[in-house]
Amino acid sequence: MQEQQTKPLWWQEGVIYQIYPRSFQDSNGDGIGDLPGILKRLDYLKELGITAVWLSPIYPSPMDDFGYDIADYQNIDPLFGTLADFDTLLTEVHQRGLKLILDLVPNHTSDQHPWFLESRSSRTSPKRDWYLWRDALPDGSVSNNWLSVFGGSGWEWDETTQQYYYHAFLKEQPDLNWRNPAVQQAMFDVMRFWLEKGVDGFRVDVMWHMIKDDLFRDNPPNPGYQPHMATYEQLLPVFSTDQPDVHDLVLKMREVLDQYPERMMIGEIYLPIHQLMTYYGIDGKGAHLPFNFQLLQLPWDARQIATAIDQYEGLLPAGGWPNWVLGNHDQPRITSRVGRDQARVAALLLLTLRGTPTVYYGDEIGMRDVPIPLEEVQDPQGLNMPDKNLSRDPARTPMQWDQQPNAGFTTGKPWLRLAGNHARENVQVQNEDPDSMLSLHKRLLALRQREPSLRMGDYVPVYADNSLMAYIRQANGHPRFLMVLNLSHRPTYFKPKDPSLKGVIALATSREREGNTVGGTITLGGDEGMIIRLD
Ligand code: GLC
Repeated sequence: MQEQQTKPLWWQEGVIYQIYPRSFQDSNGDGIGDLPGILKRLDYLKELGITAVWLSPIYPSPMDDFGYDIADYQNIDPLFGTLADFDTLLTEVHQRGLKLILDLVPNHTSDQHPWFLESRSSRTSPKRDWYLWRDALPDGSVSNNWLSVFGGSGWEWDETTQQYYYHAFLKEQPDLNWRNPAVQQAMFDVMRFWLEKGVDGFRVDVMWHMIKDDLFRDNPPNPGYQPHMATYEQLLPVFSTDQPDVHDLVLKMREVLDQYPERMMIGEIYLPIHQLMTYYGIDGKGAHLPFNFQLLQLPWDARQIATAIDQYEGLLPAGGWPNWVLGNHDQPRITSRVGRDQARVAALLLLTLRGTPTVYYGDEIGMRDVPIPLEEVQDPQGLNMPDKNLSRDPARTPMQWDQQPNAGFTTGKPWLRLAGNHARENVQVQNEDPDSMLSLHKRLLALRQREPSLRMGDYVPVYADNSLMAYIRQANGHPRFLMVLNLSHRPTYFKPKDPSLKGVIALATSREREGNTVGGTITLGGDEGMIIRLD
């Protein structure tokens, strides 16, 4: 909770925006977003007020997992463009004073990657040990009980070489053997390739999966498993994920980054917060930002969220910088979880908590999960477990830009259908409406960038009950702000214990209230949130 005294780094005071490239902007009419499309929208991003862009994978890929199955780490998939397009994009991003973060997927490759093709070619291949190969048990069954996140066993039998290989995700995504120093060096070279180009950082895919128990012990059953859950949840992945040695790898990756000025690394880690904190590393030499997914997972309950924030703040290691996420390409959209009106309160929360926020593309216009007819489902997670409603497609639909056909996303046939309301809910329409979700985001981002207390100040919890939460952000020598958020749909009152808490509403979910002086008991409407500049 301590205010830091040194000058903040870009990834501390900035706001990250995640682009899912397939769905952002198509430029060539093939129905799939691409790099020239993103280029065309950079001014939009600048005007929105975000400061860094994270691109989900853009590398050559068979697209079995839409780019998270990489066949070449040092090139661009022709669907998205060329390396020259990438260089132009990077230059233009930097010219606008923005930063660019790439997705790095070190845990697994595509089964079409030359490394894997070579590895599976024979048991004596020099790259055999780059992946996790195991003999069948004497009765021919799989080596152990590890499961794939996307359903079924984590082991796939290879007829040619008569061994199983491990894949935490699809069988087309074999896991690399990170205990092999040659694998480590190869991936560090990949990092250097992009760092030399000037990329500002990486979001590291499934960081907690990277290394596995070297004895390949069976995972124990999960006593909390319920039939509606993904089959993967039947076991607790204690031997296949979050192994102590993972931190040596993260440290080594960090050492590669640290050879370049001001680069950063985000870790994708779905773990309870005590374990999450270990990914900051010893002496902070781990991930700069281990993604904090609590807002995605907690029930939308003010008291539980306030408690989780306090716990998270309390557990952060010295010098560890917090971060918050409300949505990503793997999770239901916030508007669908909490409703349209409450999503505005959620935006206030995301953009006023202490730490770096990540905004998922489309959330700034309140895009909802789009219902995808069964015959159009694309996501392998949805296809493999059809009865569990786990498809991630609904949160990956094309960005809604304007009133043209397909909301201006493509002149062709979009790879995934658009929301039915795209003619009404899009950037163009919302730009003209001062009360829209987009206008709210712009005003919030501008306020955050203007006010040191909101960007870098301490977090001071003030109050929470089952509908309401209130907290202060304060930096020495700057105006302090009190956030009062009603996380319920019903009106409520905020009665501060400290009667001196008075001020002017600087920003609210209902603009009518802005500029009003408040003090004493504050009456809030359902789904109302406000930011008060304290006297
Ligand atoms: C990460 C990605 C997800 C992908 C998986 C396998 O969780 O966010 O989209 O399917 O890793 O690479």
